[in-house]
Amino acid sequence: MSEQSATIESLGLRRPEAGGGLIIDGKLISQSVLAETAAGAAELLLKHRVRPGLAVVLVGEDPASQVYVRSKGKAAESCGFHSEQHTLPATTSQADVLALVEKLNADPAIHGILVQLPLPAHIDATKVIETISPAKDVDGFHPVNAGLLAIGEPARAFVPCTPAGSMILLQRAAKALKVDLAGRDAVIVGRSNIVGKPMAQLLLAANCTVTIAHSRTRDLADVVRRADIVVAAVGRPEMIRGDWIKPGAIVIDVGINRVAGQGVDAAGKPRTRLVGDVDYAGASQRAAAITPVPGGVGPMTIALLMANTLTSANRATAR
Ligand code: GUN
Repeated sequence: MSEQSATIESLGLRRPEAGGGLIIDGKLISQSVLAETAAGAAELLLKHRVRPGLAVVLVGEDPASQVYVRSKGKAAESCGFHSEQHTLPATTSQADVLALVEKLNADPAIHGILVQLPLPAHIDATKVIETISPAKDVDGFHPVNAGLLAIGEPARAFVPCTPAGSMILLQRAAKALKVDLAGRDAVIVGRSNIVGKPMAQLLLAANCTVTIAHSRTRDLADVVRRADIVVAAVGRPEMIRGDWIKPGAIVIDVGINRVAGQGVDAAGKPRTRLVGDVDYAGASQRAAAITPVPGGVGPMTIALLMANTLTSANRATAR
């Protein structure tokens, strides 16, 4: 192995057999984040007898949410955390959800509280988020945390997990490619509070020139064509076409969309497959580095949730 490819691999990227840009291996990089988090949790336990505690609240029976919540519990246990899942029926009143959040706010064994979204329609998600103590808001959705990030104080905030994980992938790719992020044109497609807006703040903090494009942006293809860095977070399967990607760009695909596959499975059900917001086959031929779907940003989100929970436990212990 050449020295250069050893460096690329140690950063969690690999060269595709079929040619094209480097693949940013989110699964591998998430494992290194989880291992560091587990080591940090072990140290906190040894030095201060404090075990990081994460409480996940699920209201209703949404199957995708059930899968996510189960993975979060498993990851917490793998890091040596105390992990609680509170599953409430879809008919639970808003007052009861708020009461549970207040109880978790007051519980010293809990350092991180995550209320899985979406919530049933009769519950005001904003109200629930604003009831979580900002000090335990490991999702980073509370206005206090969004505000700290917006004023350039990410070290005092909790940064939302998906953009924080995306940023690590981008930094690894930039290092592997030996490029500096400062001064680069970054285009984010999508303006959500969970991904697009916090991602813009993080890219700005890394001295990129940032554009947030969205559903009303005119000439989206032309905007994306200017980008040295593309972050796609629109939730529309393969919307970003391969020929929109500037040769040599770094592409971070946040989308996870289930679409029809080919044929039927063993049980006779039509097969489905996961695709991102970017046309991977086309984009990977032009990008210098790109995240795959699945196995890119997805695993980073859970890993950063664990990292945020450890941060919260460390802050609570230092207070
Ligand atoms: N639903 C989908 N993604 C998320 C997330 O990151 N946090 C929460 N709380 N709910 C979600």
